[in-house]
Amino acid sequence: MREKLVAGNWKMHGDLLQNRELLDAVVAGVAAMRKGSCAVCVPYPYLSAVQVILQDTIVDWGAQNISQYDKGAYTGEVSANMLSDFGCRYVIVGHSERRALFGESSDTVALKYVAAQNSGLTPILCVGESLEQRESGATEQVVAEQLGAVIMKAGIDSLANAVVAYEPVWAIGTGKTATPQQAQDVHEFIRRNVADKNAEVASNLTIQYGGSVKANNAAELFAMPDIDGGLIGGASLIANDFVSICQAVQN
Ligand code: 13P
Repeated sequence: MREKLVAGNWKMHGDLLQNRELLDAVVAGVAAMRKGSCAVCVPYPYLSAVQVILQDTIVDWGAQNISQYDKGAYTGEVSANMLSDFGCRYVIVGHSERRALFGESSDTVALKYVAAQNSGLTPILCVGESLEQRESGATEQVVAEQLGAVIMKAGIDSLANAVVAYEPVWAIGTGKTATPQQAQDVHEFIRRNVADKNAEVASNLTIQYGGSVKANNAAELFAMPDIDGGLIGGASLIANDFVSICQAVQN
């Protein structure tokens, strides 16, 4: 049985005081849930404080990016081992903001995915099409290319230790959520694509949906058969909303 996971992606938001208030409220709100079903991915400078707050709670934590390199003269980069040092379980790789704003190619994303797994982290691999790509009917092709780059580099079995997040770019931060059926169609495509290579890995693969998930639409999205939780941006910064979204996922 695959796991369901709601993860917050704080992006470049927060400060020490706000983070503590937010996490205290989230921890209290999700206390009755199963460990492993709720996580936050936070900016690097806060990892140490977040580790202190979240250790011994059911909420896991992680980062939003990682270097593809292990160590060396890479000014400004953060390695997978450094994230492990702070108890991270997850790291997001290939978020569309990194692909679009920071020029990350699918090949670079695949290297980051491998670096994460080599250090025992679980990569949350983001895939998704732009509005233009959707309107031109290229959604499946784009998603297959992004997924294919990782499968080529890391092998199909690597997906046993990964999470995939389908995040249509046109739904991120726009308030324009994919309908449950639109999301389900792509999730089913992703699972089928993986199942063609390894049916067991496909059936155990957690595939999150991301893009304007809110407290009032999470339950209907998560009720779809191939949607196994969500990757949450804006709503993960509001304690009550994030708690409601976490509670909408039934493990
Ligand atoms: P929003 O939930 O703010 O649309 O962001 C989604 C996202 O990018 C999560 O990674």
